[in-house]
Amino acid sequence: MQDRLARCKEAVSACFDTVFAPLGSMPVEEGMRYALTGGKRLRAFLVMEGAALHGVPVERSVWAAAAIEALHAYSLVHDDLPCMDDDDLRRGQPTVHKRWDEATAVLVGDALQTLAFELLTRPEMEVSSRIRVELIASLATSSGVQGMVLGQAQDIAAETSAVPLDLQEITVLQGNKTGALIEWSARAGALLGGGDPVALGQYATALGLAFQIQDDILDVEGDVAKTGKAVGKDADAGKATFVSLLGLEGAKSRANTLVEEACAALSPYGSRAEPLRALARFVISRET
Ligand code: IPE
Ligand code: IPE
Ligand code: MG
Ligand code: MG
Ligand code: MG
Repeated sequence: MQDRLARCKEAVSACFDTVFAPLGSMPVEEGMRYALTGGKRLRAFLVMEGAALHGVPVERSVWAAAAIEALHAYSLVHDDLPCMDDDDLRRGQPTVHKRWDEATAVLVGDALQTLAFELLTRPEMEVSSRIRVELIASLATSSGVQGMVLGQAQDIAAETSAVPLDLQEITVLQGNKTGALIEWSARAGALLGGGDPVALGQYATALGLAFQIQDDILDVEGDVAKTGKAVGKDADAGKATFVSLLGLEGAKSRANTLVEEACAALSPYGSRAEPLRALARFVISRET
């Protein structure tokens, strides 16, 4: 899996190089490139591996893979702003508002978001108008007020609510905040190939939760030198997380069960889905 992930990273970087070649050196342009640098590219990998299972080559799937990474990068730039999580470090580097300023970070996020949708209009995707519209519409839903933005709003509301969220509420919140974009990524590959996205969607629902549980675990147990972002922020903010509700061992055991569920959902693909099973195992063992 690691070799395939390395190839995915290269393809996505080459795609961004093409996109940014005509752009200049205004802070917003440099900030976009900066915010797109680094990252594990897990969402891009989901797109490209799902696409490969449906017979779609990298040259076509990389645009959707780059689109979700641009959307994700926008969500991180805004998530780190002083009015949100107020973080100084991301991917081991100063956050965009630290490196430049807040106005630039807001604009970088805005422009990364519109770039994501622009990428989904690229002719190189070689996809019918019907599927293209479905990809664009579903990315809008997954990232907007019924998806990631809703999850972020619920997360902020939870910080000041008198009653801590329960497990059911946290699961819904995380499904919106993190799960929706992960699900879009996995389903996009099947859609690009004109296939049925249900199995990949089920895989991603379980994977998304396991991913967020590991994010919460790393916030407690992680090492800033490896995560490249601040740790201990959730407890400081008094946030209910999977770890605060289930305990560290309970959270790890839940993440393991979810990975088994994710892998089981891939059974229609047989052994061809091994890279996605390896990804699921990686998601809960990662230290970054
Ligand atoms: C971090 O996502 C933000 C969450 C949704 C929890 P990743 O851990 O995928 O971040 P990068 O892209 O690898 O930096
Ligand atoms: C951020 O969640 C999720 C999105 C940006 C949508 P977190 O606030 O937990 O992510 P980190 O821990 O800062 O990466
Ligand atoms: Mg946050
Ligand atoms: Mg944050
Ligand atoms: Mg976090």
